[in-house]
Amino acid sequence: MKSDNIYIRKFKTEDAEQVSKLIITVFDEQVSKKLPARAKKFFSDGNTHNKIISLNQSGEMFVADLFGKIIGVVAGRDNNLITRLFVYKKFQGKGIAKNLMGRIESLYKRRGADAIHVRSALNAVDFYISTGYKKVTRVIHKKDGLVYQPMIKRIR
Ligand SMILES: CC(C)(COP(=O)(O)OP(=O)(O)OC[C@H]1O[C@@H](n2cnc3c(N)ncnc32)[C@H](O)[C@@H]1OP(=O)(O)O)[C@@H](O)C(=O)NCCC(=O)NCCS
Repeated sequence: MKSDNIYIRKFKTEDAEQVSKLIITVFDEQVSKKLPARAKKFFSDGNTHNKIISLNQSGEMFVADLFGKIIGVVAGRDNNLITRLFVYKKFQGKGIAKNLMGRIESLYKRRGADAIHVRSALNAVDFYISTGYKKVTRVIHKKDGLVYQPMIKRIR
């Protein structure tokens, strides 16, 4: 696979099925293992085809497209908060997440953000550190079973 064939573009409604599948598959494989079963159900219910369309309408979403196959996604809202970042395992380590983050961070910077916030899954903390983020507080455990590390990157 040549990484030049991957391009980052805005989400289109017809991507919703592929994006839902990508997010749920990668979450199950890499994030949910140490979480209670209710967290997995809560997360799947929050990332159906229809929820992905609403997520795009209430914020911004970019995808990594390889000949029509969606292999990565980033979503954000409020012009400063990243809410989803997923890349298929097979395509990880090629700079795709870094490119997706760069795209949404520069959009939010143009819109006036001073900093970007993320609620990082514990397995992704080192990725965010390597792209300039810092831990804000201790790890947060939510009632729905999800666990995250609040992180921030100042961009001006
Ligand atoms: C976290 C994730 C999105 C990273 O995607 P990726 O496309 O592999 O990341 P990149 O290739 O752009 O990596 C960028 C840099 O981060 C580093 N990096 C990536 N994943 C890392 C990890 N788990 N630990 C440490 N460093 C990591 C890379 O080595 C690279 O460093 P470099 O620029 O010095 O070479 C991907 O591993 C993933 O989908 N994980 C499961 C889902 C998840 O946890 N999402 C986050 C939810 S908040």
